[in-house]
Amino acid sequence: MSILSGKNILLGVTGGIAAYKSTYLVRLFKKQGANVQVLMTSSSKDFVTPLTLSTLSNKPVLSEFFDKNDKNKLWNNHVELALWADVFLIAPATSNTLSKMASARADNLLLATYLSSKCPVYFAPAMDLDMHKNLANQENIKKLISHGKIHIPVGSGFLASGLEGEGRMKEPEEIVDFIINNIKEELKLNNKKILITAGPTYEPIDAVRFIGNFSSGKMGFSLAKTAASLGAEVTLITGPTSLNLIDKNISVVNVVTADEMFLETKKYFKFSDISILSAAVSDFKPKSRSIKKIKKHNNSLLSIDLIQNIDILKYLGENKTEKQILVGFALETDNETQNALIKIKNKNLDAIVLNSLNDKGAGFGHDTNKVTFINKNGLVKKFDLKSKIDVSIDIFNELIDGFYEKN
Ligand code: CTP
Repeated sequence: MSILSGKNILLGVTGGIAAYKSTYLVRLFKKQGANVQVLMTSSSKDFVTPLTLSTLSNKPVLSEFFDKNDKNKLWNNHVELALWADVFLIAPATSNTLSKMASARADNLLLATYLSSKCPVYFAPAMDLDMHKNLANQENIKKLISHGKIHIPVGSGFLASGLEGEGRMKEPEEIVDFIINNIKEELKLNNKKILITAGPTYEPIDAVRFIGNFSSGKMGFSLAKTAASLGAEVTLITGPTSLNLIDKNISVVNVVTADEMFLETKKYFKFSDISILSAAVSDFKPKSRSIKKIKKHNNSLLSIDLIQNIDILKYLGENKTEKQILVGFALETDNETQNALIKIKNKNLDAIVLNSLNDKGAGFGHDTNKVTFINKNGLVKKFDLKSKIDVSIDIFNELIDGFYEKN
């Protein structure tokens, strides 16, 4: 799935010959699964028709604050448009528009929307060679960069004037790649490898019976989704659940028993930057397993000898490097914080997510959870009951703040 999939993109088109290339930009954004709203200045319509752009974007092109021919005089609200956008691209950005952007002039819908925008704004200038070199233009570009706007520098080649040199707008494919790469770089877990365990484990007794638990896997799957949306490459090792996840940044490894989970976790752990063990691993397994179904009349199921499973979290804590971040989940009922801190120390963890047993809507099977995040530096943060996706966002925010951004 493209990083632009489902994103709302405002494409501002201004009046230069490169405006015809905005048609390709719309096509490319749509191909990536984005929603595109085109805003045109009136002079850009001399270079490309609104009909072409509205057909390609599947939305009426907007240009005026209101349509003079519309009896109802509906207002195109620039503030709403700006808030709708996840990305605002102005391409081509002419000398005229650049100077108005830099000096907060709002004499058309595109500029008013630009001045109201909160999302990342990219601008791709397009001008003739000497016009581009002109100090006033260079200063405007610098000023916009200092305002936090993202400059997509011009390319070099033949210009509409017949001259050759720097000034042409970057090609549409290059602009789309530029934006995709820029968004990725901004993602907080870009280039990070994350390992997550999820779900229950089943420990077979015989051919049909097992020891298991009610874990749904929802918390671990939410963690995987959030990590991927933050740019990480995720490996999700999960026990049996009814959940499905398709995301090109998440590799799902299905296991059944704690031993299988251990083998797979060990395999991926050495490559992982952050490992979060949210699986409800069975602490015990039957000492022996019958290949056949045990008949009830021979009474051998009345008691089952159990042995302990390996503590995967503890093993990872004993084998982790300084740079690796290891997070466990825990269920505590008394002296929660104190016990969690002891566990962090004993198992060499960087943090623990405490699950609440007593709160309604928290824990196994629910779509919501209520957790306390505790890290090895003694930070204790209690969160309200929220959706498991929101809980996973809180967890990653804490990890990023505590272990990456301050380093
Ligand atoms: N875990 C594990 N391997 C096991 C058991 C648990 O990796 N065999 C992990 C879980 O994924 C979770 C954490 O350990 O991250 C839970 O730790 P545990 O000490 O079992 O916590 P509690 O359930 O709170 O257990 P205890 O009764 O020991 O307090």
